[in-house]
Amino acid sequence: MPHITYIDAAGHSATHNLPEGWNLMLGAINNGVDGIVGECGGSCTCATCHCYVDEARLSDLPPVGEAEASMLEFVAAERRPNSRLACQIKATAALEGLVLHLPDTQE
Ligand code: FES
Repeated sequence: MPHITYIDAAGHSATHNLPEGWNLMLGAINNGVDGIVGECGGSCTCATCHCYVDEARLSDLPPVGEAEASMLEFVAAERRPNSRLACQIKATAALEGLVLHLPDTQE
């Protein structure tokens, strides 16, 4: 059950303990975190779960898959080297303490 910290564009921070196997979009939605929409429910077809992963932890994440890479072309906010789609990252023990920064817009 890793602790994941979400920090919105205004700097508000919230840390939640996510069940393993949940994706990080679901972890935000189910805990009332603003700044992630998750319009498609996690099927990697909306890009409204865009987040910026703490750069020091990028290597702890699974690599960007083909579908995620395609959808990252459509994020509403600036795309950065550490941009990921939260629905494509599953909570695992390896992600304990991970920090996600949320963009100022998802749509
Ligand atoms: S929730 Fe739609 S792409 Fe992640």
